[in-house]
Amino acid sequence: MNVFDPLTLPNGAVIPNRIAKAAMEENMADADHAPSEQLMRLYQAWADGGAGLLITGNVMVDSRAMTGPGGVVLEDARHLDRFRQWAAIGRSRGAQFWLQINHPGRQMQANLGQPTWAPSAVPLELGKLSKLFNTPQAMTPEIIEEVIRRFARAAALAEQAGFTGVEIHAAHGYLLSQFLSPLTNRRTDAWGGSLENRARLLLDIVKAVRATVAPGFTVAVKLNSADFQRGGFTAEDARQVVVLLNGLGVDLVELSGGSYEAPAMQGQARDGRTLAREAYFVEFARDIQTIATMPVMVTGGIRRRAVAEHAIASGIDMVGIGTALAIDPTLPCDWRKGVETAPALPPITWKSKPLASLANMAAVKYQLRKLSQGRAPDPQVSPLRALILQQVSTACRTRQYRRWMEQR
Ligand SMILES: Cc1cc2nc3c(=O)[nH]c(=O)nc-3n(C[C@H](O)[C@H](O)[C@H](O)COP(=O)(O)O)c2cc1C
Repeated sequence: MNVFDPLTLPNGAVIPNRIAKAAMEENMADADHAPSEQLMRLYQAWADGGAGLLITGNVMVDSRAMTGPGGVVLEDARHLDRFRQWAAIGRSRGAQFWLQINHPGRQMQANLGQPTWAPSAVPLELGKLSKLFNTPQAMTPEIIEEVIRRFARAAALAEQAGFTGVEIHAAHGYLLSQFLSPLTNRRTDAWGGSLENRARLLLDIVKAVRATVAPGFTVAVKLNSADFQRGGFTAEDARQVVVLLNGLGVDLVELSGGSYEAPAMQGQARDGRTLAREAYFVEFARDIQTIATMPVMVTGGIRRRAVAEHAIASGIDMVGIGTALAIDPTLPCDWRKGVETAPALPPITWKSKPLASLANMAAVKYQLRKLSQGRAPDPQVSPLRALILQQVSTACRTRQYRRWMEQR
């Protein structure tokens, strides 16, 4: 098996090769939180670059619950024409194009001015940065049911717009991941306690989405292989959740790890574990592959062809690539031509881990901005400069978002 072999999903859809552009939040919505021209240019670059699958950065199912102030929202049909244009661009060179749908739960900036909802009233612990987030309110069963409907509606709208699938984001400490973790889910009702109960929201969303879209439309799930926090969602929990997902018509599971508190998706565990230096979650993925009835994709730390090939040769179905494709969107075409590029950002060795993690995200987003302006990426950007630019842009977009919400 080779990274350029096609993959047929359980629903019959064919992904032309095994390289996926992983979801990266772009913060490039237009003034109405619909896809902007910048976003179109960015995705044209990835469509031209040759990845078999493109996954959008997370798109919000509720305009009151945002992972960031410049995020795309899909909660009604108002801007469906913009989504149609976006879908057509992503698919223009034959790639599959999935919309990632998400709800932040407690991982939402307090200064967005919205109530913060989560499974339980457990605040984020990020040292000095904790105050940027509200202590959440525990969701009522009615709010939980509304969230399920919203995921299903966003998936139906994505299908109408011409995307070939959706990916339900249940990783990285966002709402569905909060429900899965015993650290953040302290509920004593049907949505908390046992793993079956903690997984209920994810499973109900998968069922609602699958019941809403056509059988040929892909439904994927991004899941943590573990939270990498003591007392959190474990690798054994992840295995059990995949067993629960088997048989629900899920076409692919993408494995990642971590959260804002423990950013394992950037290669750092907080529970004393050591992650692989490259392809951080590949061992977990191999293990999950043995019990998963759907294809498995692994994302995190992949930038060299040999590493991608090794993962595929070991039986993992797809590799997801984020950072390296932000620096070089033509990476898949280069690899196919035999050019062994391995793009990376210089490591950030700051003492404050949460700040270093933010700076890393900012340095990647800096590359996305360059690409969206039709300019060459600059991986040598100073992380401090990228972070300051990102903070200024976030402050600006936060004001815009608050005004937008007040006018609605
Ligand atoms: C700037 C940035 C934004 C991200 N946004 C998302 C997102 O919206 N949804 C998601 O599932 N993962 C997101 N991620 C995580 C990536 O999908 C991926 O799991 C992570 O970057 C590790 O892969 P990499 O080492 O190839 O970058 C983001 C990562 C970065 C750097």
